[in-house]
Amino acid sequence: MTIPASRPDVGGLIDRYGRAATDLRVSLTDRCNLRCTYCMPAEGLPWLPSSEVLTDDEIVRLVGVAVRLLGVHEVRFTGGEPLIRPGLVGIVAAVAALSPRPVLSLTTNGIGLDRLAAPLRAAGLDRVNVSLDTLDPTRFTELTRRPRLPAVLAGLQGAVAAGLTPVKINSVLMRGVNDGEAPALLRFALDHGYQLRFIEQMPLDAQHGWDRSTMITAEEILAALQSEFALLPDPVERGGAPAETWLVDGWTDAAGRPARVGVIGSVTRPFCGDCDRTRLTADGQVRACLFATEESDLRTALRSGADDEELARRWRIAMWGKRAGHGIDDPSFLQPVRPMSAIGG
Ligand code: GTP
Ligand code: 5AD
Ligand code: SF4
Repeated sequence: MTIPASRPDVGGLIDRYGRAATDLRVSLTDRCNLRCTYCMPAEGLPWLPSSEVLTDDEIVRLVGVAVRLLGVHEVRFTGGEPLIRPGLVGIVAAVAALSPRPVLSLTTNGIGLDRLAAPLRAAGLDRVNVSLDTLDPTRFTELTRRPRLPAVLAGLQGAVAAGLTPVKINSVLMRGVNDGEAPALLRFALDHGYQLRFIEQMPLDAQHGWDRSTMITAEEILAALQSEFALLPDPVERGGAPAETWLVDGWTDAAGRPARVGVIGSVTRPFCGDCDRTRLTADGQVRACLFATEESDLRTALRSGADDEELARRWRIAMWGKRAGHGIDDPSFLQPVRPMSAIGG
């Protein structure tokens, strides 16, 4: 990685530590049809007013700037819950028509995916990640405050049937809630050909209830898995991916390759030094990091008539200021004002 002497005025999204952001994560809505206890309160949150949410055309325009002028080659749609955005299929189709065509993925809770997987695939979506923290229906209902486990399971099957593969599952473990389920979740994923990743819980909940001392760590997750599975080092380079992966001895995936399991150790094994992400919120703010405390307002610029070059210039400035890391361990750490559901996972 070369450290640039000063902020480039052309080309990609480079920061002062020499990282290039080529993976854009776009939140399509801050709303969600679940209420996961580690994410938001039962009553929901004060949602963004619709006048502040980017229109479908505005989203496509900004993604186009990122792809054509800023070197972004992967676009991930997130939320809140992106499947509840009415114009989703049209947005995917328009982004897939950009040149150069980016790789397109979506992170979802899976509800409605049984119905939407085929149209999304036809529109150009390449793959999906589905959140699933428990296989127990009662626990699912307690954890998400909605009785929708069957819908999520149907969504997973729909994703495979439509070819949105590899289908990845994200699981967050919480002490005393679902932390006993790690091996069962892995067995379920292996049996169905899904690629499972466990995520360390981060201080991004709306209620500010995160507590490091109760968080389930990557080390604990691995120990739990190793009680039932033999995990082998993965020979494939990790690159900028958040997940560290292991091969699960004796198992293969749907394509007959060695099966993998991942752990996203955002807190205890941070990967910020290799970060290649830039984020756009549903209301048109660029965030250099999940944990950024500053945002850059592209919506106002866009609605005031800024041309693509000007939008690109502002985006470059925003990314140049990206901090070296999330700083969760710094005494001065401040949780961002926006919760995860309003940033995009
Ligand atoms: P793929 O493996 O390529 O599918 O991507 P991914 O791991 O980024 O996918 P996903 O959107 O499912 O993200 C999984 C989780 O990783 C998120 O919910 C976050 O918890 C975590 N994560 C994603 N991006 C970042 C990031 O920039 N920083 C940190 N600390 N965690 C992230
Ligand atoms: N820490 C880690 N992961 C989280 N997610 C939501 N909130 C948090 C958090 N505080 C996960 C969801 C979903 C993805 C978008 O982010 O479970 O898989
Ligand atoms: Fe919705 Fe995701 Fe938050 Fe759960 S974690 S409430 S699925 S935004």
